Amino acid sequence: MKVLLATGKPFAKQAVEEIQQIIESAGHQFEMLESYTEKSQLLAAVNDANALIVRSDVVDREVMKAAPNLKVVVRAGAGYDNVDLDTATVRDICVMNTPGQNANAVAEMVLGMLIYIQRNLFDGSVGREISGKRLGLYAFGNVAKMVAKIARGFSMTVNAYSPTLSHDDLRKEGEYGVVTVYSNKELFEKSDFISLHMPLFPETRNCVNYDLLSLMPHDGVLINTARKELVVEEDLLRIMDERPLFRYITDMKPERHDAFQARFPKRYFTTPKKSGAQTTEANINAGLAAAGQIVSFFRNGDERFRVNNKL
Ligand code: 3PG
Repeated sequence: MKVLLATGKPFAKQAVEEIQQIIESAGHQFEMLESYTEKSQLLAAVNDANALIVRSDVVDREVMKAAPNLKVVVRAGAGYDNVDLDTATVRDICVMNTPGQNANAVAEMVLGMLIYIQRNLFDGSVGREISGKRLGLYAFGNVAKMVAKIARGFSMTVNAYSPTLSHDDLRKEGEYGVVTVYSNKELFEKSDFISLHMPLFPETRNCVNYDLLSLMPHDGVLINTARKELVVEEDLLRIMDERPLFRYITDMKPERHDAFQARFPKRYFTTPKKSGAQTTEANINAGLAAAGQIVSFFRNGDERFRVNNKL
């Protein structure tokens, strides 16, 4: 089988070497398309691929149509909103992700970004600490759990709310030292900082709006390492206009980046390129997991991490 690793944002060299080794030692052929800039390059490369490993690369109907032999797509990472799941199902393609594999990298970045904004982007002015403050985690998956562990090490109070976990499930999360709250309103009311951790689904799109943001303290911080589409940008701009101390730090460059940058140069920061999972360790974890899942899929039909429906 031919396995194509197609990453617009490349993996660490060590991760690529080890992925190749796993694929080839299982008797498959390995090919790579790295740092491509045009969709046409991806369309050409998938032509004879049986399996595809991607990151945030868009795998839509056009890509799948250009890959008539494609049987499996593994998104080496957590979020799979870049893959057209319905088309994959119709074309009998199995889509998987590698949950948890890059969670620590993203979690470390959440705390790093929070400190960066609390210290006024290290511009030399008087900043503030995070110890003793209340951090609210909106959703409680793999990344949020790692954030909770690290934040407790900074002596923060960690509040957690999940729209998908039941109250009982949330109570069981006590081992992470979090205070569970039972509505998103309560979370925003009781937290100095809010960190977003939900995937992008139709139900979560635009879930952070003016009403929720206005419950936060006047000097609150919103941290977004999840997806830009979760936040109603106009509402956030309005809150930041109304509240001269409110700040936004994100790994997901907003559509309205220019407006944020022009209006709040000291209270807004975005990474130039999504960087949460961009560590050697996360690349190795997610990349090797993806390669292993593909080998098991072809060896014995293992679909353990499948995220799309079957035909
Ligand atoms: C994920 O969903 O796993 C993260 O957003 C990382 O995405 P990336 O692989 O494109 O860096």
